[in-house]
Amino acid sequence: MTDTRRALLSALAAGPVPGPELAKELDVSRAAIWKHIEALREAGFDIEGGVDGYTIESIPDFGGDAVAFGLGAPYDIEFYESIGSTNERAREVAEDGTTGVVVLANEQTGGRGRLDREWLGPPGGIYASILTAPDRPPAHAPLYTLAAAVATVRACDAVDVRATIKWPNDVIVDRKINDSDGGGQSISSPEKNTESDASAGRGGLKLAGILTEMEGEADRVSWLVVGIGINANVDLSQLPPGATSLRAETGDDVDRRRFTQTMLEAYHDFSAEPDTILPAWRERTSTLGRRVRIETPNEVIVGEAVDITHPGALVVETDDARRTVHAGDCEHLRRDTTDDNI
Ligand code: BTN
Repeated sequence: MTDTRRALLSALAAGPVPGPELAKELDVSRAAIWKHIEALREAGFDIEGGVDGYTIESIPDFGGDAVAFGLGAPYDIEFYESIGSTNERAREVAEDGTTGVVVLANEQTGGRGRLDREWLGPPGGIYASILTAPDRPPAHAPLYTLAAAVATVRACDAVDVRATIKWPNDVIVDRKINDSDGGGQSISSPEKNTESDASAGRGGLKLAGILTEMEGEADRVSWLVVGIGINANVDLSQLPPGATSLRAETGDDVDRRRFTQTMLEAYHDFSAEPDTILPAWRERTSTLGRRVRIETPNEVIVGEAVDITHPGALVVETDDARRTVHAGDCEHLRRDTTDDNI
């Protein structure tokens, strides 16, 4: 999307504006304005040209221009009806040094998850990869993954879906399946995005996942791609067991345009104030205070998750030590579960 298109959308968001005024404000010809208006109409905007100027009467449900319209964050949106992987595309965009772009798609045919897993991306989802270049050391990158998880949970709040975060960055909806542990502990249904993924953890139904990729020098990130996949207006039959979707949780389709805007705005706010990320994450996680089982490449750690530390490591109290875990697959265990009987 060009700067002119973005400026035009923002001018139109303020109300009816005459074409000549738009041309002057944006420093382009009236013919250029007309071309952009036609392109927006083709993209599904209903734009009336009255005596007071152009007025937007309705906005398409989803798409690049639709999300850019009224977006309170400084991102350019590159939209695809269908794409292999938005992360892959964002990495290509990063090659020439471009930043501040969100690659957004309605469908992914080759989506990637953590640990080289596949990520199913049926039509009706929200698949977004946010490309930025924060002026931070590469070691701080996990903070941005946590920020994306909190931003997603905040967008869920706005559509009345109560989601939580399972460390480090799975957005889940808890399910109570029985009260046998006396605490009404929510539960532990198998959770994974691909059926072949036997190592995926437990602890609620998975609504969204995040894959962060980056390139950096010793002291500074060159580019950072935070890829967020949300099962939005998708039927459960299109998802693997253990997953849920916004449609399944609300019983209806959600406004993907608003959802995406809320999420991107929250992510941008967190990126501007990284010190706010960990406190916000602590408020919205269901991992802290839980008994967890974490599988790392070298070992399995079982204990109670007691805190998260900068830039995103989980602190776990095991029977004989306090451990700080930087990466791994986390399962929420039931309180009545013994370590070797999960
Ligand atoms: C996980 O939980 O394993 C992470 C899944 C991340 C999926 C998203 S969808 C948008 C972006 N593009 C990709 O190919 N992957 C991420």
